[in-house]
Amino acid sequence: MLRIALAGLGTVGAAVVQGLREGADLIASRAGQSITLQAVSARDKKRERACDISGVRWVDDPRQLAELSDIDVVVELMGGDEAAALELAEAALLAGKHFVTANKKLIAEHGVKLAHSAEAHPVQLSFEAAVGGGIPLLKTLREALAGDEVEKLYGILNGTCNYILTRMHSRGIEFASALSEAQKHGYAEADSGTDIKGGDTAHKLAILVALAFGMAPDLTSIRTEGIEHITPLDLQFAHELGCRVKLLGFARRSQKGVEQWVGPALIPEISPLAQVDGALNSVLLHGRRTGDIILQGRGAGGAPTSSAILADLIDIARGFKAPAFGIPAGRLGKIKAVEPQPRRHYLRLQVNDRPGVVAEITGILRDEALSIEQLLQRGKTQNEGVPVTIILHEGEGVVVRRAVKKIEALPTILAQPNLMAIEDYQP
Ligand SMILES: NC(=O)c1ccc[n+]([C@@H]2O[C@H](COP(=O)([O-])OP(=O)(O)OC[C@H]3O[C@@H](n4cnc5c(N)ncnc54)[C@H](OP(=O)(O)O)[C@@H]3O)[C@@H](O)[C@H]2O)c1
Repeated sequence: MLRIALAGLGTVGAAVVQGLREGADLIASRAGQSITLQAVSARDKKRERACDISGVRWVDDPRQLAELSDIDVVVELMGGDEAAALELAEAALLAGKHFVTANKKLIAEHGVKLAHSAEAHPVQLSFEAAVGGGIPLLKTLREALAGDEVEKLYGILNGTCNYILTRMHSRGIEFASALSEAQKHGYAEADSGTDIKGGDTAHKLAILVALAFGMAPDLTSIRTEGIEHITPLDLQFAHELGCRVKLLGFARRSQKGVEQWVGPALIPEISPLAQVDGALNSVLLHGRRTGDIILQGRGAGGAPTSSAILADLIDIARGFKAPAFGIPAGRLGKIKAVEPQPRRHYLRLQVNDRPGVVAEITGILRDEALSIEQLLQRGKTQNEGVPVTIILHEGEGVVVRRAVKKIEALPTILAQPNLMAIEDYQP
């Protein structure tokens, strides 16, 4: 019998409890032994729960779960208070208990330290649910692709942002309206800053990069932008160009180092990722031997996320052992951050409608040796000038950003330019 303790009885925690109860026989057959919930902890003992915890021991302080002698695995599903989750993880591993979590921030920021501790004690540290909810992304990288070398990966990793962009695209509404709609329907939290500013995607990308490239997560080298500045006009222009706008987490390894960034980008409509709408997630993994592999599914929600937690528990019950990041923590490399490889860019400007303004802009681009592939212009909008969209041929991101800074300084530019990468796709 594998005995577990669970901290957190919210959306995911309750679904795990429910899954353990409902699927007990199947889980026991797959795991080779029964998996039993021995103890739980959350903030408020009196709160009504979406799961049945009758007969399960209640512990007020989640840190105490690590000290219980009749527990083999501690599952952390609290999120939120970072210090509490970290303390619990450290204490559980130190006490020789396996540790399972869905907490991407904890793993992206402290995963290497925790992996060292897991190896020293020696127990399993598992976090499949931390990236892509129910999509088996980490297992695919660590196990199924152990014989390949992933060279590039990118994807839609945040359901809240994808829902917002999908609604903006399909209904032509502004960002703020789409956000409040997402909040109303439970796709976005009241405080959704980490989601829409790209922070959540950056945490997930850092974990994917660690498993894909065998390098310690490094949040500091991920240039991160959110979707707050995207307008319906951008989505319309993108559509006219045969593209969709998605918030991407992107990483590529080359001989020079690792390029990694998070930001809204245009992807051609022929790309399978362009068709991923609503709260779904999807990731493309490009292996040297396998080529493209695309995984897609529900990246959040109690039931899908609990499936990943239960799979981690079954692995532990089966006696499966693997380093948390695919290779021993001491052998994880250090990321050498490099600038993104040259690519096409989308640039939307709001300009004062007067003669010569386009010539000023194209002059700056010419001076930076950036050439224009397409230029789209719209009629005047009320008092706000004219939107001009430029598609730039392949250019280095650093050069393009420098040119955009110079353009932004022109007195004829009325609002902050919107620059997005174009991630081309060849089927
Ligand atoms: N929701 C998803 O779809 C999803 C998907 C993937 C990963 N995750 C991750 O899974 C984790 C849990 O997410 P969730 O959506 O289930 O969160 P949630 O619904 O807010 O639930 C959090 C639970 O943890 C408890 N808790 C919070 N802080 C605590 C503390 N300091 N001490 C004791 N208990 C504490 C809460 O207790 P009370 O109920 O008593 O307040 C609640 O039961 C997070 O790390 C999240 O990032 C979530």
